[in-house]
Amino acid sequence: MCGIVAYIGYREAAPLIIKGLKRLEYRGYDSAGIALLNDKGLNIYKKKGKVAELENELQHKEISANLGIGHTRWATHGEPNDINAHPHFSQSEHLAIIHNGIIENYAAIKTSLIQKGYTFESETDTEVLINFIEDVKKHKGCSTEEAVRLALSEVVGAYAIAVIDLEEPGQMIAARKGSPLVIGVGQNEYFFASDATPIIEYTKDVVYLDDHEIAVVKDGELAIKNLDNQEKGPFIQTVELELESIEKGGFEHFMLKEIYEQPKSIADCMRGRLNADTAHIQLGGLIHYIDKLATAKRIVFVACGTSWHAGLVGEYLFEELARINVEVEYASEFRYRNPIIEEGDFVIAISQSGETADTLAALELAKHKGATILGVCNVVGSSIARLTHAGVYTHAGPEIGVASTKAFTAQVSVLSMMAIATAKQKGTLTDEEYRSLLSEMASIPRKIEQILQLDEEIKDIAKLFTFASNFIFLGRGLNFPVALEGALKLKEISYIHAEGYPAAEMKHGPIALIDEDMPVVFIAIKDSSYEKVMSNIQEVKARKGRVIAIVNEGDETVRNMVDFAIEIPNSHEMVSTLLTCIPLQLLSYHIAVMRGRNVDQPRNLAKSVTVE
Ligand code: F6R
Repeated sequence: MCGIVAYIGYREAAPLIIKGLKRLEYRGYDSAGIALLNDKGLNIYKKKGKVAELENELQHKEISANLGIGHTRWATHGEPNDINAHPHFSQSEHLAIIHNGIIENYAAIKTSLIQKGYTFESETDTEVLINFIEDVKKHKGCSTEEAVRLALSEVVGAYAIAVIDLEEPGQMIAARKGSPLVIGVGQNEYFFASDATPIIEYTKDVVYLDDHEIAVVKDGELAIKNLDNQEKGPFIQTVELELESIEKGGFEHFMLKEIYEQPKSIADCMRGRLNADTAHIQLGGLIHYIDKLATAKRIVFVACGTSWHAGLVGEYLFEELARINVEVEYASEFRYRNPIIEEGDFVIAISQSGETADTLAALELAKHKGATILGVCNVVGSSIARLTHAGVYTHAGPEIGVASTKAFTAQVSVLSMMAIATAKQKGTLTDEEYRSLLSEMASIPRKIEQILQLDEEIKDIAKLFTFASNFIFLGRGLNFPVALEGALKLKEISYIHAEGYPAAEMKHGPIALIDEDMPVVFIAIKDSSYEKVMSNIQEVKARKGRVIAIVNEGDETVRNMVDFAIEIPNSHEMVSTLLTCIPLQLLSYHIAVMRGRNVDQPRNLAKSVTVE
């Protein structure tokens, strides 16, 4: 969590850093700050609240500088306030730091620094780190670069940092372990950021720093070294990210834009991989693994949040189509059990950001235990993508709204293609079933276009439920994970308490909650559970619950039973989740907007959860 941006070059650093921080606000937005170094000195400005508040604060200040570091925070150590906001000075105020991550052994370091006479203003682990660096520098009589290296060798935890030094106005030092850091390489200028979005309008040439690496810009030259001080040439890559894709493009919110992008993002995800006309499916990233996957004894999906829901859909798909035993694990639980991994097991991480700390750690554990590890990630070059033996990118484009929408449908699309390709390889699908699935997949973007036309209708329904205090979402089979996802979407952006359940589980407890004030959303499409779900609807109606149902076109039977029916196109059951989730995204979005919530940046959340 937290976003960092730093700049060294010839441009005005402050406006560039502020603009970059706004792009990174999805990573945290409880306070922000900037340190600027010019010939008058090293100054820090910071403010509780969003980057815009920091921007206001800077308005009448003398802030001209060509070197600076900036930070937007998601609090871990210490409440969000001006003092805990980054950057932090060292005691002498000669060094300043920004940090994304957690220094786990900060308490022990802090105690020893206090014994040496250091005092601390903030409650952060970051202030401890910068004073530790200063202390090493003082006692070893070494350069700041050397002090950063030595200090980091003793630090336990995760970090992406940038450090500047009043005495070295031509220098920027950055390092990473476990938290992402990208360096933009321009002409006589360098940009540092948590992802490429603050950089791409200046340069497309980037270096992805690896764990345990330090980048130093000195006198206009960039050097990359490891913690043993061995230098390696910067590996410059071209980032394929267009500016338009990270802007709102006329939509009121990124979330709405991303919901509307799904016909395209799913088409992009399938492009060059799935061809219904030639009945061909091929996932380039898995070319050397598909045989092995087809004979896998077990697949374990590890993921968090929405990505975990995609994993649950994957479970149904792989079991049904490829007849492979599948487990879906919360990465945070998997990593702290002593999971049994046997030969022939595949562990597949699903992650939009590719940086989620728990998912990354679960994958490291699985790799260590000898599993073949694969990744389904959206962010190209992310830590998870780089750790895995192989994988499939979702190609959904940047997802900026904190609530995941298009990344979820792209994950489900990838998992569907993987399951179909594996089943084909294994021979568990007839030719006819295979062809039919491919053409059903190919028709998804068009069908989503159709569902998006129901936006006004869904908004009208949302109006009636804006002030509900609770919601229940029910579905069965493949659409049980969609019920979970519908509930998660609603709670995270509207702050309405919502629960997702398998529809049949309702009578084992949640049914006690049903009365005339309880809205219940059913996914009641014509799949193999249709009749059973209808019975569950009757059970809710008998207790006066108010039912909104997602149904197939022309389904008068369910329409007549429920208060509101949202009709979606018919589809093969195996691909239906890609359609049923869309009205639920829109419903949550409109309810949240009507409640006046900040849907793109809901409270307490961050897009990329790089702490445990
Ligand atoms: C919910 C949401 C989160 C993420 C979760 C995992 O809308 O976005 O639940 O799905 O934090 O993130 P990734 O997929 O980046 O690993």
